Amino acid sequence: MIREVAEVLEAVSRVPITHLAGVLRGGRLLAVSTLEADLSLYSVDPDSGSAERLVEGFVSSVARPPYFSDAVYFTRDVTKGEELHKLFELRLDGSVEEVDMEPVRVSSVVHRDKVFFAGSREENSIYVVENGRARKLLSLQSFFVLTDYSDGLLLGYGPLRGPKSSELLFVREDGSYEVYTPKEGSVNESPIFYKGKVLFSSNFEGRPKLYLLDPDERKLEPLALEDVERFSPYEFTYLGTGSEGELIVIAKRDGRSRVFVEGAELEGPLGNYYTAFRFGGRTFATFTNSGTPATIAELPGGRLVVEPRVPEALRGALREVRYEKVPSSDGLKVPTFILISSRAEVPGPAVFLIHGGPWTEDDDRFDVMSYSLLALGFHVVKPNYRGSTGYGPDYERAIIGDPCGKELEDIASVALKLKGEVASEEYIMGYSYGGYLTLCALTKLPDLFKAGVAGASVADWEEMYELSDSLFKSFIEILFAGRKELFKERSPITYAKNLRAPLCLVHPQNDTRTPLKPVLKLMEVLAEEGKTFEAHVIPDMGHALRSLKDLVDVLLPSLIFLKKVSG
Ligand code: 4NP
Repeated sequence: MIREVAEVLEAVSRVPITHLAGVLRGGRLLAVSTLEADLSLYSVDPDSGSAERLVEGFVSSVARPPYFSDAVYFTRDVTKGEELHKLFELRLDGSVEEVDMEPVRVSSVVHRDKVFFAGSREENSIYVVENGRARKLLSLQSFFVLTDYSDGLLLGYGPLRGPKSSELLFVREDGSYEVYTPKEGSVNESPIFYKGKVLFSSNFEGRPKLYLLDPDERKLEPLALEDVERFSPYEFTYLGTGSEGELIVIAKRDGRSRVFVEGAELEGPLGNYYTAFRFGGRTFATFTNSGTPATIAELPGGRLVVEPRVPEALRGALREVRYEKVPSSDGLKVPTFILISSRAEVPGPAVFLIHGGPWTEDDDRFDVMSYSLLALGFHVVKPNYRGSTGYGPDYERAIIGDPCGKELEDIASVALKLKGEVASEEYIMGYSYGGYLTLCALTKLPDLFKAGVAGASVADWEEMYELSDSLFKSFIEILFAGRKELFKERSPITYAKNLRAPLCLVHPQNDTRTPLKPVLKLMEVLAEEGKTFEAHVIPDMGHALRSLKDLVDVLLPSLIFLKKVSG
């Protein structure tokens, strides 16, 4: 059994995941990829797909550079996983300069003719980089994302006026700023400059649409794009421009997305597109679907620039992908991806793999966790519980003020529906917010799942809040809609004595998003109560999986546990 798990992990650790991040000087593509075991930067030939590594060591994130830039800004965690980052300037001659700054949690970077970033520690601040040094411009109470800059105006957005809305943020270089919304309470996201105006998505007239705002006169007009309207997306997931200023839109509906240039769809294989860039009349995008690990594709058509490698031990493990909307206890439909393993009967053992965030989603993409489970003979069920992205602002915000509430009922409803139909027995596993929901399920609905794996989980909101930096404090405040009095009631440690199923805890030692300490306390309670559990602390690792080694460290104990309890 251990050999079987080892073989699968060995295969998993050879699957590179590649995302397109921009276009470099000379028309080569900038990719961020795990081609060589750690996440790093590559320059890729758009025709041959040959890749050249640009920097030694891992990167945490990279800023989208201006077209044909010969400089790239990336961040790197300079601690042992505690996610205190520094910003680095890489030049295509191979030199790397560290920006003179205190390490902070860098959450977004804008690289235009100037460079700005959002960084948090005790407060959430915006910095400008001048002559290789970071200067703080201002600090804000809430968290936010920086998106674009032109001509003295920096753009961003975030929940600046309350937990359920999202406003646009306009920042000037003297540190003054303005919060803009077309309508109080509406959700406004992803502003970029387009034809001298600010393009953004907003739901203030109902379903999210694109709007153009004149930043000086504050005149607002809708931007109707025929093919996009016909597609009728729930969400816009990416707004960008080509090297000639052409508008690039990626829109999403039911777990799949499409790319539109100047409003016309560029057809390609079904699946998901996460970023897209266009130069010299050619368009390139990050592409994935359930059978294709994220890679770079050219559109229209979908020629793969970098051929994805799926090792023998994983290939063929996926028999079928089903997508169902399962009614929850209150009738809300829960969009669920069901991956049928070719190595198990139907019904057969199934793992509910619960995504984190909560503001992310399980869509039609290749993910190594699912493939490891499929290869080991488990069906994989991925419910997009309320709070998931991809189904519009209302669905996404339905979790606010109610964590471990209705979204847990969503998961339970899917589990009850699939029992006997797809699943002979059901297990639950998740990382981060998914680890939290795993603990919620096992302690609040102790008969539902046969066993569970909680990775980087949340055991106690009270202690976690105290240990959090300003970014995660504001994140938790938004999630709870400010109702700190709910912390105790919504913490799995409060219900630890209800646990009946075997539990496997996996936790990075240096995690600063979901710190280890509250989980150590949970272990103490579980030990006192005589519960059956095992625990694995991953040394010198943080919350982010930044190399294939991190992934293997987390998956190894998880998969062995699941094989053991199901065997
Ligand atoms: P994630 O991690 O699921 O990986 O995004 C989280 C970290 C912190 C919180 C939630 C999720 N939090 O509520 O503070």
